[in-house]
Amino acid sequence: MCGIVGAVAERNITAILLEGLKRLEYRGYDSAGVAVFTNNGTLERMRRNGKVAELEQALAGEPLVGRLGIAHTRWATHGAPCERNAHPHFSGSDLAVVHNGIIENHEALREQLKGLGYVFTSDTDTEVIAHLLNHKLKDNNDLTAALKATVKELHGAYGLAVISAKQPDRLVAARSGSPLVIGLGLGENFLASDQLALRQVTDRFMYLEEGDIAEIHRDSVQIWDVTGQSVQREAVQYSDGAEAADKGEYRHYMLKEIHEQPAVVQRTLENRLGQDHVLVQAFGPQAAELFAKVRNVQIVACGTSYHAGMVARYWLESLAGIPCQVEVASEFRYRKVVVQPDTLFVSISQSGETADTLAALRNAKELGFLGSLAICNVGISSLVRESDLTLLTHAGREIGVASTKAFTTQLVGLLLLTLSLGQVRGTLQAGVEAQLVEELRRLPARLGEALAMDTTVEKVAQLFADKHHTLFLGRGAQFPVAMEGALKLKEISYIHAEAYPAGELKHGPLALVDSDMPVVTVAPNNELLEKLKSNLQEVRARGGELIVFADEQAGMTNGEGTHVINMPHIHDVLAPILYTLPLQLLSYYVAVLKGTDVDQPRNLAKSVTVE
Ligand code: F6R
Repeated sequence: MCGIVGAVAERNITAILLEGLKRLEYRGYDSAGVAVFTNNGTLERMRRNGKVAELEQALAGEPLVGRLGIAHTRWATHGAPCERNAHPHFSGSDLAVVHNGIIENHEALREQLKGLGYVFTSDTDTEVIAHLLNHKLKDNNDLTAALKATVKELHGAYGLAVISAKQPDRLVAARSGSPLVIGLGLGENFLASDQLALRQVTDRFMYLEEGDIAEIHRDSVQIWDVTGQSVQREAVQYSDGAEAADKGEYRHYMLKEIHEQPAVVQRTLENRLGQDHVLVQAFGPQAAELFAKVRNVQIVACGTSYHAGMVARYWLESLAGIPCQVEVASEFRYRKVVVQPDTLFVSISQSGETADTLAALRNAKELGFLGSLAICNVGISSLVRESDLTLLTHAGREIGVASTKAFTTQLVGLLLLTLSLGQVRGTLQAGVEAQLVEELRRLPARLGEALAMDTTVEKVAQLFADKHHTLFLGRGAQFPVAMEGALKLKEISYIHAEAYPAGELKHGPLALVDSDMPVVTVAPNNELLEKLKSNLQEVRARGGELIVFADEQAGMTNGEGTHVINMPHIHDVLAPILYTLPLQLLSYYVAVLKGTDVDQPRNLAKSVTVE
């Protein structure tokens, strides 16, 4: 959730830390700070409320110059976002700590440490770590040994980086439930919660595993595993040069990422389609054998990724005839789950580091699932490493906090899964796979056509400029698309938006409809169209204004209070992917009109690595 960067070098590391924080800002951005062991021999700190730019400005006025340092960008969990709660946290004047995650027993530890005379200056759970470590240093002067003793008393999740003015040759780190990676340089080494933060200084990385403690010097790295054994972790070379870290011609990353969808969907399909069938081995060498045994599917994910799972349920049941359940990870992980025999556990995640999804996967391993599959955008993520099978969605780096291209590539991956399961188990109707493979090949072009509606959608967005509430309606596999549309709108425009299956309207939500409540609907030309049209009449009869994204062949026309935006015709199975695009554009343009921070909306973070 938050971001960590650390460095130990022969040169001044402050600019490296700042650049790293900027690259991590997608994870959290309500305050930022840096602690540096300066060339004057003292540990100094600078923290600022707000974005990293505030910290950068402060450092420009009062530079910190040194060769050892740690830095952090925060997404508040314990304690309000303010300078006092920003990391690094100190204990005394010699010890600085930055932390990602949540310490669940922080209250008990706080009381214990207060009893020992420690004075707390923040409301954070992190400060207990700093003081506990300080206390442990009294028994053992060695920073690494003290950290090992400290983590034994922590319950919860943490990625930790620590420096001490008394041992200024090292940076020490601990990982449990929150990722950390060491960046390997020449005569200098680095640490971060995501390798992205260090790409400007190295392309060689060593990923810490659960329970690892690391001692990082300029020219050496030593790691101990959860049992305390000294271990080697493999150094890997990172070679994906394709990631674009600038907005190009676009005003926001989100708009750029929306427009990248034809290309990234194309990339997600590459090497995965045969002439008339899906290549099952795209899911891994053991996929065919495992898929042949699958009789049920359990999907678990959060947020937008959960919506992708909900669409997949329609596909898996209607096309492959496989019963499917979908659940948000935060519920699944704490529920007593009854697992049907031969159930495949499927997790979906853009980042592969979402705490609830990861915990659900770890629980699933104890529950007797047939096997696990991760549909994920990050090949080096924990979710991928811990799953039996993987399908990578090649969406490229997604920087906008509101997920767009990750969602549509997840849908593509899930359709490939549906067809693969149906193929291996022989449950697809004759000819369906070949037809859908053909439709998938055409999909990037169809997405391009939908994006050409950009300016039309921009005009429609004006209808929302002074609105506070919105309803999104869909039927069948378009219901999760409506949910995703509503989530996008609330995330970035802060307009309250609810999604309903259109048939459910008259069971309650219709009471909300009046002329101040725009109702957005997705209406592909399928067997539910006539029923949907009746639902829309119910809205019009109450004065509700309709915005309908309708198939050009659906025979829907503009009328008083009804704005129809024609969509290119598409096979019904692929319609959820296509109809997502205008809803993304709609949210985007409404947010621009409202003047919100589109790429970094308030209170959110890109990667939710805390519960
Ligand atoms: C919404 C959004 C979130 C994420 C959710 C899961 O736009 O991005 O709802 O989808 O936090 O994240 P991942 O997919 O990384 O597991």
